[in-house]
Amino acid sequence: MILDTGHPVIHFDRIDSTNLEARRLADQGECGPFWLWADEQTGGRGRLGRNWVSEPGNLYATFLFPISEGPNAAAQVSFVAALAVHDTVMRLRPGLSPRIKWPNDVLIGGAKFCGVLPEVVGSAPTRIAIGCGVNIAHAPQGTPYPVTALGADLAVDSVLRELDANLARRLKLWDEGRGFPAIRQAWGERALGLGGQVTAAAGTKQVAGTFKGLAADGALILEESGGTLIHIHAGEVSFAELEALRRKIQ
Ligand code: BTN
Repeated sequence: MILDTGHPVIHFDRIDSTNLEARRLADQGECGPFWLWADEQTGGRGRLGRNWVSEPGNLYATFLFPISEGPNAAAQVSFVAALAVHDTVMRLRPGLSPRIKWPNDVLIGGAKFCGVLPEVVGSAPTRIAIGCGVNIAHAPQGTPYPVTALGADLAVDSVLRELDANLARRLKLWDEGRGFPAIRQAWGERALGLGGQVTAAAGTKQVAGTFKGLAADGALILEESGGTLIHIHAGEVSFAELEALRRKIQ
């Protein structure tokens, strides 16, 4: 299958993980750009070492592509991908009000329906794999956070087509980092909790303060009450605005 952007799609009925397949292909010298799309994954991988339940009916796809910039630019791709998912929901389900939770979760009413896993899978040239899992027909049970799905009336391939078009547009805007200010601006307009209270783990201690925005390396900037700025690079972050939303849906 070839998408409107000209990106080819390699389809699998079943695979361990489309991100792992992207890495294997990169190891063999493949650069992309192309999509790997599976109806089902037996070893779907999520952020923070979690697994990603991958039964048929949802979208499991990875976009592999080369960049001429080094791996630092790759950290920004997370935000580009989250924007593309946000655009996709706005097109397919215009009545919903999706919001982005740092770094790249996209939520509807505080519930997660999509996960993005960007990874650097090759060097010289740097190759990036952006794995996207979108709940369409099912919202898996047993997750440590509330989940939802877009609805089984949407065809999985139509979500992939829309996502591909939006990702191509956002990657063009990003321009391998030269357009990051525009990405940061668009991301901030859709982000949950910006300007509000946030708590996070910084090393071994827990820090709390105001969510001030994104650093160029993708870190979340937290301002403590004394004015100290702390950059959070990874881990679980709790946003007061999101906690309030989740209390409403529980
Ligand atoms: C997250 O935990 O939020 C990220 C989940 C990413 C899941 C997708 S599904 C397609 C691709 N293949 C994987 O193994 N993971 C990603």
